[in-house]
Amino acid sequence: MDGREGWNVRKPYVFLTRKMPDGIVSMLEKECVVSMWEKEETPPPVSRLEEEIQKADAVFCNVSDNINKSLIEKAEHLKVIATMAVGYNNIDIKAAEKKNIRVAHTPGVLSETTADLTFTLLMATARRVPEGMDVIKNNEWGAWAPFFLTGQDIHHARLGIIGMGRIGELVAKRGTGFDMDIVYHNRSRKPEMEKAIGARFMEMDELLETSDYICVQTPYTEETHHLINKQAFQKMKRNAIFVNTSRGPIVDEDALYEALNNGEIQGAGLDVFENEPIRADHPLLSLPNVTALPHIGSASKNTRWKMAEMTANHILQGIRGEEIDHEVKR
Ligand code: DGY
Repeated sequence: MDGREGWNVRKPYVFLTRKMPDGIVSMLEKECVVSMWEKEETPPPVSRLEEEIQKADAVFCNVSDNINKSLIEKAEHLKVIATMAVGYNNIDIKAAEKKNIRVAHTPGVLSETTADLTFTLLMATARRVPEGMDVIKNNEWGAWAPFFLTGQDIHHARLGIIGMGRIGELVAKRGTGFDMDIVYHNRSRKPEMEKAIGARFMEMDELLETSDYICVQTPYTEETHHLINKQAFQKMKRNAIFVNTSRGPIVDEDALYEALNNGEIQGAGLDVFENEPIRADHPLLSLPNVTALPHIGSASKNTRWKMAEMTANHILQGIRGEEIDHEVKR
């Protein structure tokens, strides 16, 4: 008796950590028994996750589920962990590998949408969009004033991109539409992209010291933990606008707060935070020069649907023992 009795044992058992639309559930139901946490906006409690992972053949999860070593060690039948995200820092890959569990993610499909939101944050912060909206909502809009809510230009400014992967390239491409001077720093140079987009490689310090806009687009790993720290902010120009749509812990948030509060940089556009979700009393939200969003980089209807479909497909491929389209390479 392993808790899986009562349903057809020939069908694999899949646990979905969030409520998914019928179309996605029915894709899985054709070949699996589906168990689903019925809420869309809150994750299951750890006790439910533990209980489900113990009996599941596959788990459909996302960025806010902590699929750690102790959880993975409890799995008795698990073959696939498929996350509806490109980033998989929330999954203990080594623990999964040890148990021969395959891990899948969703690269590519969300790159354009995330690049769109990166640019949204860049522009909203530069042109003080949240402050302008507050002025209207608070009935503070007086007569037209010559220097009221003046921000800074985006066109012809220097855009520095740290991490030139798929999303970085698409942010760079968007910058060309604004005649920006595009520079990047990456572990390896990208000659083809340099040629196609006209971006120039730059050492990290020079990029930090000379860019008007700095977007960080690296994955979160041990090496990128607090990559953007006090020293990095001190190198930036006083008019620099910093944008992060990758992962919160890449940035030392205390150092960011100090830099913004002391006027060492101009502003920040943030979609991700060190500990999510943040609440209204988070120190960064007390600053007028911060545009903050609740981790919605890939959140267009179209893209989220494609990510969910891709994740369900990875599960089906994994349980059939087929090649998985986007398996995390070890
Ligand atoms: C990802 O895919 O890693 C995003 O952060 C989730 O939208």
